[in-house]
Amino acid sequence: MKQLVRVLLNLCALLSISLASIWTDPRLTHYGEGERSFPLPKEEAHAFFYLSEDNSLYVGGEEILYHFNLKAMKDYKNYTIKAESTRCQGRPYCKNDVTFVGQLLGKLTVCGTNAYSPGCWVMENETFQKLTYSWAQQLAPRTPVDNYNILISGSEVYSTLARKSNNGLSVMITTFRKLYGSDQLLYTGDTFLRRPKFVKSLVVEKEDKIQNKILLFFTEDNTESRTVEKRLPMVAQLCKSESGSVSANTRNVFSTALKSRMICGNQLTGQYYPHLQDIYFLQGKTGNVIFGLFKNAWDHSAVCSYEVEDIELLFNTSSLFGSSRKDLKIRPGTCLPPPQMTPEETSEEASNYPELTDWLWPSGNKTVFQNLNLYSKIVVDEITAVNQKIYKVLLLATDDGTVHKVVELEDGALNILNVIPFKQKGKLQFMELDPKEHVVYMGTTREISVLPLDDCTAYNTSCTDCVRSRDPFCGWVEGKCESVLKHKGSIVQNLEQDAACKDEKESTAESTSLYLKGNRPTSSNGVYFLTCPTMLKHATYMWKNGDREMGKCDPSNDICELIVNEVSYPGEYKCIVKEMETERALLKYTLPESNSATKPQCLWLLGLTILLLVLA
Ligand SMILES: *[C@@H]1O[C@H](CO)[C@@H](O)[C@H](O)[C@H]1NC(C)=O
Ligand SMILES: *[C@@H]1O[C@H](CO)[C@@H](O)[C@H](O)[C@H]1NC(C)=O
Ligand SMILES: *[C@@H]1O[C@H](CO)[C@@H](O)[C@H](O)[C@H]1NC(C)=O
Ligand SMILES: *[C@@H]1O[C@H](CO)[C@@H](O)[C@H](O)[C@H]1NC(C)=O
Repeated sequence: MKQLVRVLLNLCALLSISLASIWTDPRLTHYGEGERSFPLPKEEAHAFFYLSEDNSLYVGGEEILYHFNLKAMKDYKNYTIKAESTRCQGRPYCKNDVTFVGQLLGKLTVCGTNAYSPGCWVMENETFQKLTYSWAQQLAPRTPVDNYNILISGSEVYSTLARKSNNGLSVMITTFRKLYGSDQLLYTGDTFLRRPKFVKSLVVEKEDKIQNKILLFFTEDNTESRTVEKRLPMVAQLCKSESGSVSANTRNVFSTALKSRMICGNQLTGQYYPHLQDIYFLQGKTGNVIFGLFKNAWDHSAVCSYEVEDIELLFNTSSLFGSSRKDLKIRPGTCLPPPQMTPEETSEEASNYPELTDWLWPSGNKTVFQNLNLYSKIVVDEITAVNQKIYKVLLLATDDGTVHKVVELEDGALNILNVIPFKQKGKLQFMELDPKEHVVYMGTTREISVLPLDDCTAYNTSCTDCVRSRDPFCGWVEGKCESVLKHKGSIVQNLEQDAACKDEKESTAESTSLYLKGNRPTSSNGVYFLTCPTMLKHATYMWKNGDREMGKCDPSNDICELIVNEVSYPGEYKCIVKEMETERALLKYTLPESNSATKPQCLWLLGLTILLLVLA
């Protein structure tokens, strides 16, 4: 009995997993591989990408910088940036790997490992001048595989590259520190970060500039007993314009830096995703939202969102873990107007107990989206659809550069499209959204690719195909599936089942040629093999002979096959796709009445087969 229950439970679990994956895998694949991609002149194992505001894409590689014009990608320039010394011969990174390209103090700047002697060069008149600031060497790591983070905000420069400890001992420690800027050059205390791996840093700007915050996202060692995880995803917050502490021995330490553990999962089901992969900061039409991409131990992914207001509220209200003081005049983490400094008792408390008691829970205490894929990068766009509602569209990329387009609809997130933007296999290094143009730029170690989010060619076969896509960027207009950004007027779109295609008859084989791709039934001695491609992965497929159902198919196989013997069932065969309770015929085959000439032939063959079997 117990065993039976266990079997049933297992079955149930399997079923729910497969059900979940039906809806969280992409509905449709767009086979437009590399339509707008361009190969890098040579493979760059540690390529660094920088998208500049003047429609250029810079790619830093090994001793080289490429400059692509995004309007005409074939026109590119290259600049050689060699290591200045080669005294490291025999060691693995004895070249100058470009690790940073960007605008620094108003000039295009390139930084690189420079054969273990990091440095930066400023581009002037198409030539490169070495940057002589002493802090420039803290803008690049010693090898291209080091983990670090750089933040440039206006004329302020921050870096996490390891430096010698404050106490004079020659121990390398990792801090977040300001390298350049008008105010004091502060850094986080020696023990604030515990073997951190940085994911992202960003600036949250407030109307009241004094309240501007820096948020730092990273994973670090867990030394607490509150959870069993060895490493924890964390968010740290500090006041951007703070002036340090009154205390003489922590004069140059960020006195407002505090941190909290981030949680991503579903409170209802108890599924949690403890490993932070990527962060996207959406400065949206209805507010600022942080999207976190996480994974679990089985490499399944989840996306959680956090309102920036909620993060601020958490840091405003939580107590500090381990601290018992409630009598402080100024709460730790308070941004004071410069040049006012944090009182000693407040900064001491923050430095002794930098972690909040409360954790950062995701909006609604649930994931935005989750599935069994392993994604490594995320960007999120917003689009005003035909119904005037604003939709968020998540672009999730795997390490090999495949992209899933996921739409947040009222009844949940739906994975609508699988896009393959690259021609060659390479490791994804870069994905960035231009929210004004609604274009995603991507780069691997071998190739760059441009992905316009309002590309509707994947659904351009019929009105039904177009609206069923539930892609908020696409609508049916003037007999085509077109970008809603480029058309005004009467566009048919059906995101929340609120509109339908006018006088669209049941789609026939002609109007769904996309699915047909020249399939014809193949016959062999009166036996026909009928095939129907199952491209819509959220639908069910079946064959019908008249009203008789002849077989159902699981769309996870790419083809729905039917074998019929014309002798027993002549007539019309339809491949039916059923999606959202409506059925459409995708293609139609008419099998002829068998004629007498084929029958004896068939019998003869049957006889031969039996004879052969007997002889064997
Ligand atoms: C860089 O540009 C030069 C001159 O335009 C060209 O000869 C060379 O092949 C280019 N190198 C690469 C790696 O593209
Ligand atoms: C760059 O070119 C401009 C105009 O030709 C010149 O005035 C300037 O001195 C040059 N700068 C450098 C660093 O060579
Ligand atoms: C947090 O506290 C600051 C300073 O008192 C205040 O300006 C801000 O509005 C507060 N934010 C939230 C979300 O409560
Ligand atoms: C989420 O869960 C935490 C921990 O149980 C709880 O404190 C918080 O109020 C919940 N938030 C929401 C929005 O339900």
